[in-house]
Order: sequence, then C-alpha cells, then structure tokens
Amino acid sequence: MTQKWFLRPFGGDAVMPPPVWMMRQAGRYLPEYREIRSKAPSFLDFCYTPELAVEVTLQPLRRYGFDAAILFADILLIPDALGQPVQFKTGEGPVLEPIRSAAAVAALQPDRVLGHLAPVFETVRQLAKKIPPETSLIGFAGAPWTVSVYMVEGHGGTDCERARDWAYSAPSEFGHLIDILVEATSDYLIAQIEAGAEVLQLFDSWAGVLSADAFRAWSIEPTKRIVERVKKAAPDVPVIGFPRNAGAMIPEYVEKTGVDGVSLDHSVPLEWAAGAIPKSCVLQGNLDNRLLVVGGAAMDSGIDAILKIAETRPFVFNLGHGIVPQTPPENVGRAVRRIRGEG
Ligand code: CP3
Repeated sequence: MTQKWFLRPFGGDAVMPPPVWMMRQAGRYLPEYREIRSKAPSFLDFCYTPELAVEVTLQPLRRYGFDAAILFADILLIPDALGQPVQFKTGEGPVLEPIRSAAAVAALQPDRVLGHLAPVFETVRQLAKKIPPETSLIGFAGAPWTVSVYMVEGHGGTDCERARDWAYSAPSEFGHLIDILVEATSDYLIAQIEAGAEVLQLFDSWAGVLSADAFRAWSIEPTKRIVERVKKAAPDVPVIGFPRNAGAMIPEYVEKTGVDGVSLDHSVPLEWAAGAIPKSCVLQGNLDNRLLVVGGAAMDSGIDAILKIAETRPFVFNLGHGIVPQTPPENVGRAVRRIRGEG
C-alpha cells in the first residue's frame, strides 16, 4: 500500500527525510499572498471566500512542495460564528467585543456555527480535489482555552490576565464558555473531516500562561473531550496538539488528551521531549521562526540539530511557531531543500 509521506509517521514510521510543513506557510511573507489579499475587503471576507482561500492555500505548495497543505482560515472564525463581533484591523490584529459575564456567554449562539462556517467546508472540499495527490490536507481549529483568551480579552498582546482571573475566580461560569467552545469546535472539526481534511491540528497558543492545575482544567480537559468526539466520528484521522510554551506539562498533555502528535515550540529541548514522550506520539517542530528570518549557516545548523532527533522516531518537521511576515521567501526554499538533503 502506498501511503502519503505525511501520514507515515502517524503509522509509526521514522521516515527520512521527515515530512515538512510550516505553520503560517500561507501569509504575508509571500508577495503573491499580499497581492490576492488586497482584493478582499476584510480578512474575514477573505477567509469566507472559497476561491481566494483555496488559492492562498495552494501558493506555498507551488513554491516549496510541502508535504501538507493547511486549510486557510483562522481560529477566530469560531467566535465570529457564535455571534461575537470580530474584526481584523490592519497593523493591530484581531479586535473582538469582549465577553466578560455569564449573560454574554448565554447570548452566544451555538446553533449558528455550522451554517455560518459553510464556506470553510466548501474551501476544504475544493482543496481536497486540487492539492497534489501526494500532499495531505490539514484542517484546524483553536483549542478552547486560546480561543476563550481572545473572546475575553478582546485583542491579542496581553498576558491573558482577564481570562485567567475569570477562570480562577468563577470556574463554573468560565467553564460554561469552555463547554460551548468544546461542542462548537468538535462539530467544526468533524465537518472539516467530512469535507476532506485528513489530519487535524488544535492550536493552544496561550497554553503557557496557565499554572499546572489550570493547564489541566482548561487546556488538557477540553482538548481531551474534543479528541474523544473527533475519534468517535473518525478514528483514523490523526490529531496534532500544539500546547505552546507548556514546557514540563507537555508529556502529561500527550498522555491525557490522546493526541496522535504534539507540536513543540522552540523552547522545548528535543532530546528531552524524545525521552519524555512515547514514540507512539509523533513529535512535530521546532525550528525557531527567527532562524528562518536570519537564514544562512545559523538556520542550517538549527535544521541539522532537529534532523538528528527526527532520524530516531516518528517526526514531522515544522517551526516552533508561525512564519513571520519579515521572512525572506528564499530562506523557506533553502530550509526545505536542507531538510530533504538536497542542499
Ligand atoms: O497558513 C496557515 O497557517 C493557515 C492559516 C492560519 C491563519 N491563522 C491565517 C492568518 C492559521 C492556522 C492561523 C491560526 C491562528 N490565528 C492562531 C494560532 C497559531 C498562532 O499563530 O499562535 C492564532 C492565535 C490566530 C489569531 C490571529 N489571526 C492573530 C493574532 C492574527 C494577527 C496577527 C497577524 O499575524 O496578523 C491573525 C491574522 C491572520 N491569520 C493572518 C493570517 C495569514 C494575517 C492577516 C492578514 O493577512 O491581514
């Protein structure tokens, strides 16, 4: 049986070269992205226009031949679908009308979610037909904790203090918001699989601000419930978790959530992770995204160090966080060739 290269590690194989994709592989560092992005009136319209979303998903595949495509969308489509006003302001990032009371949670509209996100499923359906046959299609969502941070804070660039305060002071009230997100996110991911997604990633970008017990309650537990629901619907679709900056809590996250793979930020020593996390869980990561900006010999030696671990166990090459806009596109090409032993 021939299996797509990207899926081999999830079948337990340590393949060389490891499959490679990069978080934010579609984005502002690419001139062809900026060109097409300028045609959409807003970032949300862009995400909800299948023709444009499909095109920008394909752009990095044409340049670099990544082993996987990631659906072009955003983790904040879920709050938008729940009826919370969301805007993306140029130079400022996302701005939401913050939710800070039980009444505001009760006003969310879970019944709206799947209908509102229908254009995303159309994008996935078209991508499943248009990506090269050897490429895998990754669907994704934000993990409940990280999405709740944006919903409660109303914008990025905070230390998540309002969300943390609410979670500590009124856990059952805050837990109601998390429950709504668990349900909406599970439905959303299952619908992505039905439309053609072959792998899922759950982004918990703000996992690292939580204390150990709060991490168990608000990152591990909700993720575990989503993984259970997804596995019930589609037992064979691998799920990758990304508990960014969760450090020493990562092995417990892997064990308790049941994820098939874990994406590691660049602060995690790979030799430690390789000892602490069983080989049945694929490791993904974890080149510092600044090395992709810097390029040259520094980037090459960062890549080589990761490849030494990748040889020893099922592994997917990625960055520790998304590609930043200042990244020279030629550095991405050089990285992919180096990973594949071509340069
Ligand atoms: O190529 C891909 O990775 C697929 C698309 C994708 C986007 N966002 C597109 C995007 C994915 C997987 C995301 C995930 C996402 N979105 C996360 C989790 C990963 C992470 O980076 O921690 C988070 C926290 C968000 C929320 C978000 N979206 C922020 C904070 C911002 C503003 C910061 C920025 O980079 O502008 C966005 C906007 C966004 N999402 C852009 C893109 C390409 C840039 C917007 C633009 O083109 O105008």
